[in-house]
Amino acid sequence: MAGKKAKSKSVTRILVIHGPNLNLLGEREPDVYGKISLSRINEMIRVEAKATGIKVTIVQSNHEGKMVDLIGSAGKNFEGILINPAAYTHTSVALRDALKACGIPAVEVHLSNIYSREEFRHQSLTAASCVGTVCGFREGSYILGLKGLVQAIKDRV
Ligand code: DQA
Repeated sequence: MAGKKAKSKSVTRILVIHGPNLNLLGEREPDVYGKISLSRINEMIRVEAKATGIKVTIVQSNHEGKMVDLIGSAGKNFEGILINPAAYTHTSVALRDALKACGIPAVEVHLSNIYSREEFRHQSLTAASCVGTVCGFREGSYILGLKGLVQAIKDRV
């Protein structure tokens, strides 16, 4: 019994947050983001999580305040955050501060290479609060980011 309890407690839990407009993937600017839908990306994340033996909870929000709340309470239930802050990457001091304050490591991901796009996308306000960033590999960025996050969580202890 005691062994069982200890085992279930040690499963790494990761909160995945997709920011604004990512619910439109598949229809939205397919030349930039590809034709893959968000539900297909989520399926890929779940397959990778299962293979790695971790648990993921996936949320999409178009609302900055909701994202701040999710990040703010994540430390109670998760060991790490995988986040695509989408447009808020370039504008949100609130998300940057929330990620800094949450007490667990976060990895930032982007489908597109934000550095090869318009100049206003070259700056990420949120990246400095994350352990690392992956961008430019379309949906593959999420998988690479997840692997990096799992490693960062292991390295912490
Ligand atoms: C994005 C890049 C952002 O600049 C943009 O606002 C998005 C998506 C990406 O995944 O490539 O909405 O985060």
